[in-house]
Amino acid sequence: MKKVTIHTLRKMKQAGERITVLTAYDATFAALFDAAGIDALLVGDSVGMTVQGHDSTLPVTMDQMVYHCGCVSRAAQRAHVIGDLPFGSYQASADEAVRNAMRLVAEGGVGSVKLEGGADYADVIRRIVRAGVPVMGHLGLTPQSVHKLGGYVVQGRGEEKAARLLADARALEEAGCYALVLEAVPSAVAAEISRALTIPVIGIGAGVDCDGQVLVCYDMLGMNAEFQPRFVKRFTELAAVIRAAAEEYRSEVRRGTFPGPEHSFSSSAEPRAAPRAGPIALAANGADPAAPAAEGEGEGGGQANIISLPLPGASLPSAGSQVLGTSGRAGSEADAHSDERPVKLYSVPTGMLE
Ligand code: KIV
Repeated sequence: MKKVTIHTLRKMKQAGERITVLTAYDATFAALFDAAGIDALLVGDSVGMTVQGHDSTLPVTMDQMVYHCGCVSRAAQRAHVIGDLPFGSYQASADEAVRNAMRLVAEGGVGSVKLEGGADYADVIRRIVRAGVPVMGHLGLTPQSVHKLGGYVVQGRGEEKAARLLADARALEEAGCYALVLEAVPSAVAAEISRALTIPVIGIGAGVDCDGQVLVCYDMLGMNAEFQPRFVKRFTELAAVIRAAAEEYRSEVRRGTFPGPEHSFSSSAEPRAAPRAGPIALAANGADPAAPAAEGEGEGGGQANIISLPLPGASLPSAGSQVLGTSGRAGSEADAHSDERPVKLYSVPTGMLE
């Protein structure tokens, strides 16, 4: 499978193909987005808010970003992975910025880094690019400057501010950025900047005329029922789904209906029972659900589990009829897809799950 690179993204802009980007912070989400055909995964410092529970991105550290970049990079087979340089990792000096950008590549496995700021950061960007690390810029609402901006507010309103934004965008392109994120900017301003630059402009709250879009994955998945800014579309309502699943689990444990015999081990080896149908399907190892365990797959077997997901564009099995399983015992509907490709998701020894 061909990996998406910064050159792919540039060609997509030239061909007028819109670029899709989502944030990801761990291997499970990254593998799913990758299998869905998302072009680039941004390991955003939004991890500080979505995962760590802070009220800003400011407390996120380099070590944490290296860790999350590694989680995502290991799972992304096709998507380009972008690592965010966190607050304090590139502002003090160009030397420090280069060192930290290289850490995200060498230790975190990313293909490029992102940093926030305009023309003031042109020299820093030049130094990082010269060191061999592609840089994505970030203008408009730059959350690391939340105190300077006075809050999370729309940027670039009014002629003068729009002109300054365009000048900053040109400066970033000139400094060697391969792409640019524009956040919370009036659509007309974002459209003008997208037309003016040869590099892809990826919008978030910047209208439809950007060269691509990025959203924070927890937002577009509806993980937080209370958070509904104007620029976010919830493509599903996972908060309700997850809460319902947790409530059902709690109820079954309390009632003593989970675990059932099919989830329990007997004293002697026996053929595995078929799994119960659940709400979501992942076909593991491409294995025949009815087949007995292969020799060496028992306890201590060291094979990694591979889930199979439909290729981007393939029709999904209907909701409610898929089978969730990571044990190589997955269900029938997912198996019916002829165009599935295996996606490495977990490195759990198969034997642990038998
Ligand atoms: O950290 C992040 O998730 C971001 C996106 C909102 C662009 O920077």
